[in-house]
Amino acid sequence: MNACIAAIVCSAAKKDIRAVGLLKGFEGFVNSSAVELDEKAVSGIAGRGGTILGTSRNGALKTRLESTELRRVYESLGIDSLVVLGGGGSITAAKQIEDAGFPVVAIPCTIDNDVAGTDYTIGFDSACNHVIRMANDITDSAEALDGRVFVIETLGGDTGHIAVASAYAIGADAVLVPEMEPDLPQICGRIKAEMDVGKPYSVIVVAEGAGPAQGLVERLTEMLGRRVRVTSLGHAQRGGSPTYWDRKMARAFGEMAVDTLTSGASGTMTAMRDGEVNSVPLSVPTSGAKAFDLATYNLVNRLTDEGE
Ligand code: F6P
Repeated sequence: MNACIAAIVCSAAKKDIRAVGLLKGFEGFVNSSAVELDEKAVSGIAGRGGTILGTSRNGALKTRLESTELRRVYESLGIDSLVVLGGGGSITAAKQIEDAGFPVVAIPCTIDNDVAGTDYTIGFDSACNHVIRMANDITDSAEALDGRVFVIETLGGDTGHIAVASAYAIGADAVLVPEMEPDLPQICGRIKAEMDVGKPYSVIVVAEGAGPAQGLVERLTEMLGRRVRVTSLGHAQRGGSPTYWDRKMARAFGEMAVDTLTSGASGTMTAMRDGEVNSVPLSVPTSGAKAFDLATYNLVNRLTDEGE
């Protein structure tokens, strides 16, 4: 998110536009709690994880703001347009602001990659790369510990996008996600058969929404007849210096948000679709859930011929 804040501020500065950052997201918006952000203020933040502004984690906009209240907020902050960075809750709030007639553009930022209308949300690549790095460390160790099964629990809220993408990238033996009911006897039967003929270890990725992974240990141990160990990656996936891809997307989305607003347009979300950066109306991300990547899920779980 910091990389995106920096891109917005620098892009605005080039157009002689003043930028302020709202502290703790929508909390700062409704309470007019803001800091001036110029190029100096954002210098060097792009490489830092998290956000210098903080977020309002529990409820983006708790109550729908009426036009008079929004006018008061825009006027007291001295702003004429708003860029909202966040996931589903924040984007829904952006849509409410748009519906009330105030200029706003949203940028999808969540490690979960669960926003409809865009193939990508900022943070996802860094989170997946964290999972991959940790999986590498675990499998280094697995090579010396013959015959074990390693369960890696990812974040992802009530979606399995991080788990599926990471499981595919590391060549995991199975992935469990909240979107799909797993066939544990089938999965364990396959893994057990492979290990019985010499496969040294196995890795199963579990999305937090399909877990808790720790609760699966007993069943997996029984079905696999192997020692099963769990690593829960937790909030480390939300931190760390962002990857090249996240910084590139943060810059592209941040610059597009400023361009959109300065062109007089509003009510859109920056998006990446089929490799192209563009904008979609806010009605798109707020009207339904993002499609689940069933093809990759099936590949990881060897449920298609290609996965054999
Ligand atoms: O939505 C992003 C996310 O990182 C989810 O993947 C995760 O469930 C959640 O936030 C963790 O945050 P909290 O501890 O506030 O639930």
